[in-house]
Amino acid sequence: MSVAERSRREQALANGAAAVDRCRRCEIGTIRQHSVYGEGDPCAAVMVIGEGPGETEDKLGRPFVGRAGALLEKMLLAIGLARDDVFICNTVKCRPTLDDGVRLRNRPPMPDEMANCRPYLDEQIEIVRPQAILCLGAPSAKSFLGAKFSISRQRGQWFEGPSGIPLIATFHPAYLLRMTGGELDASKRLVWADLKALRAKLDAPPAAAPEPEVVQPTLFESDI
Ligand code: URA
Repeated sequence: MSVAERSRREQALANGAAAVDRCRRCEIGTIRQHSVYGEGDPCAAVMVIGEGPGETEDKLGRPFVGRAGALLEKMLLAIGLARDDVFICNTVKCRPTLDDGVRLRNRPPMPDEMANCRPYLDEQIEIVRPQAILCLGAPSAKSFLGAKFSISRQRGQWFEGPSGIPLIATFHPAYLLRMTGGELDASKRLVWADLKALRAKLDAPPAAAPEPEVVQPTLFESDI
C-alpha cells in the first residue's frame, strides 16, 4: 500500500469520525459522553465489527477497551493479529443505554439506531476495504445477513458481506465472559475454530482470475 493511499484513507476516516461526532440522528447521540467511531489500521486485512459501545468505550471514545476488548485482543493474538493490525468498530457509534432510574445500563442497539448508523459503517468498510469482516455476536452479523441469521448454527461459516467482502461471525467476547465451566470450554473451542477459519482465509492465495477463453476463429475456417 502506497504512503499516499494510506494517508488518503486516514483522512477519509478522520472525516467520517468528525461526521459521527456531529451526528444527533438518535436520542443516544444526545446522551453519550463520546461517540465511538472505531480505530485501527486504515489498510487492515480484517475489520472487526461489534455491537455497540459500552460504558468504558463511551467514557474513552474508543471501541472494545473494557473487559470484552481485553478478551478480543487475546482472541486476535491467537491467530497472529495485534489490535493495531485490524480495524475495530461497531454497528452503532454511540452507547445504547437504558435509564433504570438508578443508572444508565447498556442495552442492545435498536433497529432504527442501527439503520441511522449504517451509512457510517458502510463508509468505513468502503474506505478500509478489508480482505475479511469478523462480526462479533448475533446483532452485528444480523445487521449484514438478516434477522434469520442464527449465531449458534451459522457462526464459523463464510458469507458474502458488503461489496462482496467475505464475512464470518463468531460469539461476542462479552458473551464468553458471562460463561463458566464446561459451557465456556465448549464455546471457546467453537470460537477457536472460527478464528482459525479467519486465519486460513487471510493466508489463502488470492483467487486466480478466470482463464481467458482461447479463441481461434480461423482454425476451422481454413479453406484448405
Ligand atoms: N462490546 C461491543 O460490541 N463493542 C464495544 O466496543 C465494546 C463492547
